[in-house]
Amino acid sequence: MAKEIKLLRGMSDILPREALKWQYIEAKARSIFAQYGYEEIKTPIMEEQGLFIRSIGEETDIVQKQMYNFKDRGEREVSLRPEGTASVARAYIEHNMDQASPVSKLYYIGPMFRNERPQAGRLRQFNQIGAEAIGSSSPYADAEIISLMMDLLKACGLTGAELKINSLGCETDKKAFEKALKKEFAGKVNALCEDCKKRYEKNILRIFDCKNEACRQLLRSAPKITECLCKDCLSGFDEVKKALDLSGIKYSVSPFLVRGLDYYTGVVFEVSHKNLGAQDAVAAGGRYDNLIGDIGGPKVPACGFAIGTERMLMAAKDKIEAREPAVEIFLIGLGREAQREVFKILGQLREKGIACQMGLDEKSLKSQMRFADRIKAKRVLIIGDSELKSGNALIRNMENKEQKEISLKDVADTHLW
Ligand code: HAM
Repeated sequence: MAKEIKLLRGMSDILPREALKWQYIEAKARSIFAQYGYEEIKTPIMEEQGLFIRSIGEETDIVQKQMYNFKDRGEREVSLRPEGTASVARAYIEHNMDQASPVSKLYYIGPMFRNERPQAGRLRQFNQIGAEAIGSSSPYADAEIISLMMDLLKACGLTGAELKINSLGCETDKKAFEKALKKEFAGKVNALCEDCKKRYEKNILRIFDCKNEACRQLLRSAPKITECLCKDCLSGFDEVKKALDLSGIKYSVSPFLVRGLDYYTGVVFEVSHKNLGAQDAVAAGGRYDNLIGDIGGPKVPACGFAIGTERMLMAAKDKIEAREPAVEIFLIGLGREAQREVFKILGQLREKGIACQMGLDEKSLKSQMRFADRIKAKRVLIIGDSELKSGNALIRNMENKEQKEISLKDVADTHLW
């Protein structure tokens, strides 16, 4: 027997029943994005490697350990996108979107790739529903992006999501914080894990990504970023909190939240859910005022978020509906000639936009009726030799079991059923 080829580890097939939930979520998301004035952007899943290195940061776990990097046939260094923000920023610059409108509100829905160790809620190919608001430094842009994210989670059936927020301040505040951390850890470098020893030298903020208990313990007594915020950043952060209060959005301030990507400045946030176990972040984001300038674009402020679709589905458990599409009519043709007639009627019905199917194989009437039941067809029309001769057939309402005779030439006139 030929060897069976299996799915790659960390990837998943989304089978039809589950895909119905995805369709539901994506349709909901699109309608809420439209309500908030966001437009869709589709960028490629593959980009020049340098884009991610420069955006997400050389020393981050994503760049160091998780990217799918390879050389294409033209020896170009490319990567599968590990997230969407960098690509949206690149596209924003490349298409001079700053000139088209002072604020660009963009959203994306699609797969991302990270070569992580797979576990529940952690995949190598996963999907994000994300949004980026580019062009505004207003605290209301932050509050609106958070409110949009929370609305999406709620509309998709998720309750009990917990929002944590923090502020990393501007570049100067971040530098001041890094300096304070360096001072704090100067005499304790030997107590850090091997990774954090490197992080101490190269990018000290990344110590916050460490899972090692000893490193985490040291961080607990270290200075907090909020102690290093300048007046403007403090008041901006306060305004965002006030706006969230006004919208009735509950949150807690977490001084340990720094996010695992280097591009963040200002307000950052993460949403977790108790149904998720170890990988409990269902969505996250924040402000990144320097990213677009840093990768060669105009100096424009921006903020955004991404929801992990698989994690949202996991957290919502069975609350997301899988609504099967209705089959208005199932047509059964008994014999080759009757099947030809059925196929012709099928075309007429579909032209009118009616959802219909026919029994493709010449199975017994009984097994075709069973199939019609299984797909929850609302009506069934059976055509055999005698119906062909008389030009009339019985149409059966599967819900109330009523039957009605109908002329074959009138079947496409649905009001007659
Ligand atoms: P992130 O925190 O890296 O942020 O990812 C956002 C969400 O994607 C996570 O909260 C999680 O739900 C999901 N996710 C991440 N990695 C995996 C994985 N391996 N398996 C399953 N789900 C995963 C970003 O990607 C930023 N681009 C968000 C953002 C947009 N910031 C500003 N704008």
